[in-house]
Amino acid sequence: MSESEEQALAAARARIADYRNRIERLDDNSLDLMFREGRNHNWWLDKPVSDDQLREVWDLTKMGSTSGNCLPARILFLRTPEAKERLKPTLGPRNVEKTMLAPVTALIAYDVNFFEHLPKLYPIRPEMKDRFEADAAVAEDFAYNNGSLQGAYFIMALRAVGLDAGAMGGFDRAAADEEFFKGTTYKSNFLCNIGYGDLEGIMGPRLYRFDFDEACQII
Ligand SMILES: Cc1cc2nc3c(=O)[nH]c(=O)nc-3n(C[C@H](O)[C@H](O)[C@H](O)COP(=O)(O)O)c2cc1C
Repeated sequence: MSESEEQALAAARARIADYRNRIERLDDNSLDLMFREGRNHNWWLDKPVSDDQLREVWDLTKMGSTSGNCLPARILFLRTPEAKERLKPTLGPRNVEKTMLAPVTALIAYDVNFFEHLPKLYPIRPEMKDRFEADAAVAEDFAYNNGSLQGAYFIMALRAVGLDAGAMGGFDRAAADEEFFKGTTYKSNFLCNIGYGDLEGIMGPRLYRFDFDEACQII
C-alpha cells in the first residue's frame, strides 16, 4: 500500500469512529418516523417540494450499499403538468388521481448497462464489468435486484427528511419505458409519489405485519 493509500484508509476508519462516538443508534422518534409510524401515502397537501429537497434525498439514497457499488438506479422526477400527462396513460385507474395531485412523482428505473460505470464506481475490481458485458440476462437481473434496493433506500430517505412517499407498482412498465426511456438502456421499476401526505388519504389502520417467528428463522 502506498503512503497516500494508507492515509486514505486511516481517514476512512477515523470517520467511522467519529460518527460512532456521536451516535449509537436511532432514538424512538426517529424509529417511528422511519419505520413504526411511517405510512404509504395516497393523497397530498398543496405544499410544494423543492428541487433542493429532491437533491438532498438523492444524496442520502446514493449512500445505501449496492453490490460492487454498482448503483444501477436512475430516477426521473416528474413535476410539470406536461410530464405528468405523459405518465397518465400508463397508470392503473386507482393510481391516476393521486399521481396527478402529488407535487412530484419519481419514476424509479434501473440501467441495464450499469456495468459501464464500474471502473469508476468499483476500481478495486475493474474486471467485474466483464461478466455483465458477456451476459445481458445476468446484467439485467443484477440491475433489477440492486436497483430495487436503491428504491427502498429512496423511500426511507424521503421519510428521513420529513417527506412522505406513495410507492406504486400499478402502472404499465413497458409503456412507461416507451414514453420516457426509448432508445436508452433504462427500464422502469416502480413509481413513487412525493410530498406531504394529506391524512384524508389514509384509509385505515396499519395492516398486519408478520411477527419474527412468522417470517424469520435462526438456525
Ligand atoms: C413497491 C410498492 C408498490 C406499491 N404499489 C401500489 C400501487 O400501485 N397502488 C397503491 O395504492 N399502493 C401501492 N403500494 C402501497 C402498499 O399497498 C402499502 O405500502 C401497503 O399496503 C402497506 O401500507 P403502509 O405502508 O401504509 O403500512 C405500493 C407499495 C410499494 C412499496
